[in-house]
Amino acid sequence: MKKILTVIGARPQFIKASVVSRAIQQTDGLEEILLHTGQHFDANMSDIFFNQLNIPRPDFQLDIHGGRHGEMTGRMLKEIEKALLAHKPDRVLVYGDTNSTLAGALAAAKLHVPVAHVEAGLRSFNMQMPEEINRILTDQVSDLLFCPTDAAVQNLNNEGFANKPVQVLQVGDVMQDSALLFTEKAEPPAGDLPERFVLATLHRAENTDYPERLAAIVAALNQIHGTLVPVVLPLHPRTRKLIAQHGLELKAHLIDPVGYFEMVWLLDHCQLVLTDSGGVQKEAFFFGKPCVTMRDQTEWVELVAIGANQLVGADSRKIIEAVKTNFGREVQDTQELYGGGKAADKIVEVLAFS
Ligand code: UD1
Ligand code: UDP
Repeated sequence: MKKILTVIGARPQFIKASVVSRAIQQTDGLEEILLHTGQHFDANMSDIFFNQLNIPRPDFQLDIHGGRHGEMTGRMLKEIEKALLAHKPDRVLVYGDTNSTLAGALAAAKLHVPVAHVEAGLRSFNMQMPEEINRILTDQVSDLLFCPTDAAVQNLNNEGFANKPVQVLQVGDVMQDSALLFTEKAEPPAGDLPERFVLATLHRAENTDYPERLAAIVAALNQIHGTLVPVVLPLHPRTRKLIAQHGLELKAHLIDPVGYFEMVWLLDHCQLVLTDSGGVQKEAFFFGKPCVTMRDQTEWVELVAIGANQLVGADSRKIIEAVKTNFGREVQDTQELYGGGKAADKIVEVLAFS
């Protein structure tokens, strides 16, 4: 029996891991040990996904969250190392680009446990982003690099990965697998909602940690909601805290973070997505909705190239203009940019034989 220890900790990782865990369970000869770092811990940021997406209860629940990046990552590193020594897995599996990803990859590499990275090769080329540091370092210590897109493979080639003794594989995007698998479970969030609306999310450090950027985004959201079209915004706890801290007033249709089934419903029923999330940019596309991205770069460059996604940074005027131009526009997925829902099976097939 091949033992895989999976490290997850943040909301998008639960959604990504759900489809891979399911495929592992269906594969003879593979056993998964699940470690939840605790990075996300509110019921609507963590438990709800385990319940809705049928993710097995974690074998390890570390309850590590908060603190500065070094402290959080360091505490995770220490505890993940203990779990690895206790379980002696054949491989560690990590997702994406959070502090939990880096801690899992580094703890494994130091103990010479091979690392598989799902979402390898993504780059924003902005080293100010904590995510960029996490993903570059994780790729460096991985020997199985599961890339979601051609651009991600190209990034790794540019960094010389083709000459390393590792496997770089384009398998598609596990988030498309999740979207396809769970669409039929879509359900409206509790409470009344406007009939036509912009679905917004906002949490990235590059926006929320810079008061001027945050204020400019809040001003744009207030104007869109007040004069153009209602903005429905499930508010991330990070953003809620920082908005209060800076004394800002956000006048949108605010709701608490929702489960995946509710999020899928919102994606399906909105007329435009306005976000700084990585995952939500692609989900807009999966649901045929135009996306306006409040960032200066994106890792999902193919969506910008085909005109499905527009980058507007944190510039109030550009945000409002882009919402006006794109609202209600239809976006068609004609090219299967993300693999068509087969990523998890491809990943697990490779895991079983390596
Ligand atoms: C993290 C990831 C980011 C990812 C995001 C997904 C890093 C460096 N960042 O950012 O890449 O896009 O997750 O959502 O790993 N908090 C709560 N309750 C929770 C979760 C968080 O109150 O359930 C609070 C924390 O206490 C902290 C703040 O939100 O004050 C930020 O949490 P943290 O996990 O540090 O980073 P995210 O912004 O969630
Ligand atoms: N999501 C959710 N509920 C919410 C907001 C987001 O289920 O209230 C889902 C979203 O559909 C996507 C994932 O969380 O699948 C994206 O996570 P997030 O935006 O927190 O992180 P990022 O992708 O930017 O790292």
